[in-house]
Amino acid sequence: MEKKLWLIEQNYYDVKDSPKYETIFTLANGYRGLRGWLEFSKYGFCGNFIAGVFDKAQAQVTEIVNAQNPLVFNLYIDDELIDIDRSEILYFKRYLDMKNGILYTDVEIKTPKGKITKIFSRRFVSRNNVHRWGAEYKITPVNYSGKIFVENIIDATVTNGNYHPADKAKHIRVKESYDFNPGIALETCTIDKHITIIEGTAIKVLDESALRNRKYGVFGEIVRELLELRVEEGKEYTLQKFGVTYTSRDTDDALKDILACELKSFYEQGLQNEIRAHIKAWQEIWDKIDIEIKGDDLAQLGIRFNIFQLSSSAYDQDDRVSIAAKALHGEGYKGHVFWDTEIFMLPFFIYTQPEIARNLLMYRYNTLDGARRNAKLNDYEGAQFPWESADDGLEVTPKWGMDYDGNPVRIWTGDEEFHINSDIAFGIWEYYRATRDKDFLINYGIETLLETSKFWKSRVEYNEEKDRYEINRVIGPDEFHEHVNNNFYTNYLAKWNIEKTLELAEWLKREDNKVYNDLLNKLDIKEEDFKEWKIIKDKIYIPYSEDGKLIEQFEGYFDLKDIKITEHDENGMPLWPDLQGYKLGQTQLIKQPDVVMLMLLLGDEFDLETRRINYEYYEKRTMHKSSLSPSMYSIMGLTVGDTHNAYKYFMKTILTDLEDNQGNAEFGLHAASTGGSWQSVVFGFGGLHVDKEHHLCLNPWIPEHWDELTFNITWQDAKVKIVVTQTEVRVVSTKDIDVRIYDEKLKVNKNKELVYRK
Ligand code: BGC
Repeated sequence: MEKKLWLIEQNYYDVKDSPKYETIFTLANGYRGLRGWLEFSKYGFCGNFIAGVFDKAQAQVTEIVNAQNPLVFNLYIDDELIDIDRSEILYFKRYLDMKNGILYTDVEIKTPKGKITKIFSRRFVSRNNVHRWGAEYKITPVNYSGKIFVENIIDATVTNGNYHPADKAKHIRVKESYDFNPGIALETCTIDKHITIIEGTAIKVLDESALRNRKYGVFGEIVRELLELRVEEGKEYTLQKFGVTYTSRDTDDALKDILACELKSFYEQGLQNEIRAHIKAWQEIWDKIDIEIKGDDLAQLGIRFNIFQLSSSAYDQDDRVSIAAKALHGEGYKGHVFWDTEIFMLPFFIYTQPEIARNLLMYRYNTLDGARRNAKLNDYEGAQFPWESADDGLEVTPKWGMDYDGNPVRIWTGDEEFHINSDIAFGIWEYYRATRDKDFLINYGIETLLETSKFWKSRVEYNEEKDRYEINRVIGPDEFHEHVNNNFYTNYLAKWNIEKTLELAEWLKREDNKVYNDLLNKLDIKEEDFKEWKIIKDKIYIPYSEDGKLIEQFEGYFDLKDIKITEHDENGMPLWPDLQGYKLGQTQLIKQPDVVMLMLLLGDEFDLETRRINYEYYEKRTMHKSSLSPSMYSIMGLTVGDTHNAYKYFMKTILTDLEDNQGNAEFGLHAASTGGSWQSVVFGFGGLHVDKEHHLCLNPWIPEHWDELTFNITWQDAKVKIVVTQTEVRVVSTKDIDVRIYDEKLKVNKNKELVYRK
């Protein structure tokens, strides 16, 4: 039973579901992602994405490159290719073992000529050495003896955008192919950024006596080796595949030499050794991230899937990359990075693997120059972070998209969704609060905050008549409404951004005067400027209602047609109400939380009643047309006491990809939702938050049918384990810490369990 709670299974084969399962079964290690493409099918969207390898070429905008596919492993029985889509499937099962990070495929296939073959395989993408991946195939000819040909291929005919003919683009050009025997390699180069990518693979046949011949061949953009085996009926043959990947982003040395050497040593050390190290690395990760939910198996499995895939999407060695909206799991959103990272995913890393959180924030620091250029191009000052970001911080949001009828629609988010700037500032502050990483704050964080504040200073507009600063023509988190004025979320967080910057600048002046002065010089900021910034932030218009409770999402929102959601589908998700001839933007329906979102980020600034009133109002009008939405309503639901809906939204969130409830899992992981899943558990059910005085607080509530919830966090260098049952809260920490449980001030002494009875 326990084992089942680590396995994601596919127990049937239907080719139309393959793309979805390719996403679910993606194996990644932060350096790269290999979609769970099935070798024995010619359909689906193979995807080999290497973090940071972006290119534009003929694509609409710069996008993540689909690199040459090293997974191809064709099996022929004599001259007959084993193709699952043209065969009878006698047995089929695929499963992802999340504990060990291994994907298994177990099939028995009867070809049109009646030959039955059993294939049991496993695949992994190493977490021990990010350049390595491997597979093992156990092949049994069930009712025949004779020849089997194994065709090991690296295929550079791949393109991006295969799911729509209009999106197809080619980013790689073959440079060279190599025969290493054992092993082959194919080196490509991206079209306009000239990044070189080399993929090498080698096959080891464990029963060498079966191997008769080997042939090497280059067919245009394909390199292959063909192995001829002589097999006997009923006997099992094991073949191992060793994969190695490098790019010119990793090193200045000749890739061919590095690859040859690495492939050789991997081959010699053996697959099993690497698998062992890989499993150990996963064990260490799980020790930091695992969440246990006793009494709810689906919730248990679902949460593990989310944190497994989120963890797979980042590693701690490259601070030039971040996590895309679809992570390394698909081409959706072109591999671009959104606010999804800072607001949805970052908290997971802050509290479980802070060194990765730091890297994610360093990516923003390292792309500051691009953000500065965006600001300049738009006649603003400071740094304007792109709504969609690739490798250099320049804005890469496409300007045009297509509606459901195939008509072109202008996409305004890249022009108007400015809140990304404060979202990043907010992420920096959250990271610092939990880690106290002064080095980061002093050397990178404050500079980023100063630049975003400078941007806001130049972006606000002064309304003389009303003596206030406004931020007009924006899009808030709810993207159903464009070109709106004074969006509550945007204005509030811009104000917060400037306020926090002023506070930290003051702090830095005392903490490290030299860095402070150098920074001001570098950014051409004078102390007088701070006076102006202060006036601006005091006068940024925050559209409160008269009673100060129900908040208008933006100016004029309450005048829009008030169409509420009345019907839900069988999963409890909203069905489109009759728009009564109104355009969506003319109604009060929203895509995802906006006012409520702000109240989640800065919860302490609003009393509980205000949060409840706004939750109740906006929840009835939220269509959840973004996977970012349900998790946030689940947390706010738990905060204000709507526990029933909170559980429903939590389950929606953790099953986003597994049950494909947004209908687009094929394009990649809903990475923000994976982060939202973690937040739902830890901030929602665990009730963890840091109050204004920076105290660690716990306010847990768990559903009646849960026996126990356990999660781990790091808090200012201490490793803390928290267990919540129906009757008690237990906390154990590797260091002395202070904690507030249901507002009671308590001390947790090092390695001594604190038991709080509810
Ligand atoms: C959401 C955004 C999100 C983006 C990428 C959109 O549908 O509205 O909030 O950043 O998807 O996930």
